[in-house]
Amino acid sequence: MNESIGVLRLPNEVRFGFGARAAIAPIVAGFGRRVLVVADPFIATTAEFAEVVEAMRAITGNVEVLTDVPPELPSESVHRAGAIAASFAPEVIVGYGGGSALDAAKLVAVLVTHGGSLDDYYGENAVPGPVVPLVAVPTTAGTGSEVTPVAVISDPHRELKVGISSPHLIPRAAVVDPQLTMDAPVGVTTFAGIDAFVHAVESYTAAQLEIDHAHPSPVFVGQNRLTHPLSLEAARIIFRALPVAVRSPHDRQARADMAYGSLLAGMAFGATGTHLSHAIQYPIGAMTHTPHGLGTGTLLPYVMQACVDAIPEAIATLGEAMGVTAGAGGATAHRAQATVDAIAAFCADVGLPASLAELGVSRNDRDRIVELTLQVARLVAIAPIPVDRALLGRLVDAAIVGDRSLLVARLPTPGPAQRLRPRGQP
Ligand SMILES: NC(=O)c1ccc[n+]([C@@H]2O[C@H](COP(=O)([O-])OP(=O)(O)OC[C@H]3O[C@@H](n4cnc5c(N)ncnc54)[C@H](O)[C@@H]3O)[C@@H](O)[C@H]2O)c1
Ligand SMILES: [Fe+2]
Repeated sequence: MNESIGVLRLPNEVRFGFGARAAIAPIVAGFGRRVLVVADPFIATTAEFAEVVEAMRAITGNVEVLTDVPPELPSESVHRAGAIAASFAPEVIVGYGGGSALDAAKLVAVLVTHGGSLDDYYGENAVPGPVVPLVAVPTTAGTGSEVTPVAVISDPHRELKVGISSPHLIPRAAVVDPQLTMDAPVGVTTFAGIDAFVHAVESYTAAQLEIDHAHPSPVFVGQNRLTHPLSLEAARIIFRALPVAVRSPHDRQARADMAYGSLLAGMAFGATGTHLSHAIQYPIGAMTHTPHGLGTGTLLPYVMQACVDAIPEAIATLGEAMGVTAGAGGATAHRAQATVDAIAAFCADVGLPASLAELGVSRNDRDRIVELTLQVARLVAIAPIPVDRALLGRLVDAAIVGDRSLLVARLPTPGPAQRLRPRGQP
């Protein structure tokens, strides 16, 4: 564990629990009277949404709803929404829906406040100052976007999706009501849920980076002391709850646990960043158009296999939190490997494919995936192992054919000096 740093950035207010949506209207009214709601088009047809909008209207008198932002967030649709939003001049923006709607709300807030074009803000820390106050209401469990400093968009001029990361994008308030996730279909439950698990695991296993407190921090600071309890608890809860939520969608406890676990995972990775499953998913998502969590979840067992020799203690501790009993009392390396095996079994149990080949990726795609992954340098830098073309090639090969044994005992174990790398040197 990195005892030396702690960084955590969060909304001013987080509400959680069945019925928490009753807090949305009073919280929103505290920020202003002109309310813009950026909502998922399907969710905007639900009775709960109508009630929340009615409650906001009753208090503030002036609510505008925008639903014309499709999933994956093509940048031109966000620019269109931004122009409509600017003419309304909102004093507060509510994001209501899955990760796509929450990210759309963040991006609209940037455009309304600072003008210009989204590509002015690509990358880290390019948003010049605070944005119109955001209130985030997730209906999936989940991306954690209700508490994170990032939004992801598709730019038709780029092969990969692009991120805008800035502490200014952290919503001022997050209202997490598990009731809003109760009717999510099994695909949404599985893919959003496994992505939350990947957030917890990649946050806990992020690299130890050196932070100079005297200078502005990067948005993502690697593993740190304040996020460890959050990511461990998130992994523990999601490992138990996701299979139940997938098989018994109306199990209230499982839905509540998933909403809670994805919230904690978002709090953690919003400071630490995520690493290789996310970095490799960028090109896989562009090639296959598969949902984000389907890609990150399929990749996770391979990424953990690639990391297990370098960080056995962290992975064994993760396994302990998840309640993995195989190898208990044995050597750290055995407990760590049992944890990776348990993660692979968990992914299979909730219905994820065992290989990238099942997503339509072939060996011929390998070199292109490796090249594009290296371009996602900000995430690659968060990996706890040295990453180069050779390592990525082996990792992607193993994931394509669905054989983790290709990664066993073939990776060089880095010494402590290599693990404690300066930021930005993959
Ligand atoms: N900003 C972040 O921190 C962050 C983190 C991870 C992922 N993401 C992004 O989030 C997006 C994925 O978000 P997502 O997985 O929440 O899905 P989503 O928002 O893209 O929605 C997927 C589908 O689920 C439907 N849906 C949402 N909630 C529902 C509910 N309660 N009941 C029934 N249907 C429902 C939507 O209508 C949509 O058709 C990706 O674009 C990804 O890049 C962002
Ligand atoms: Fe994710």
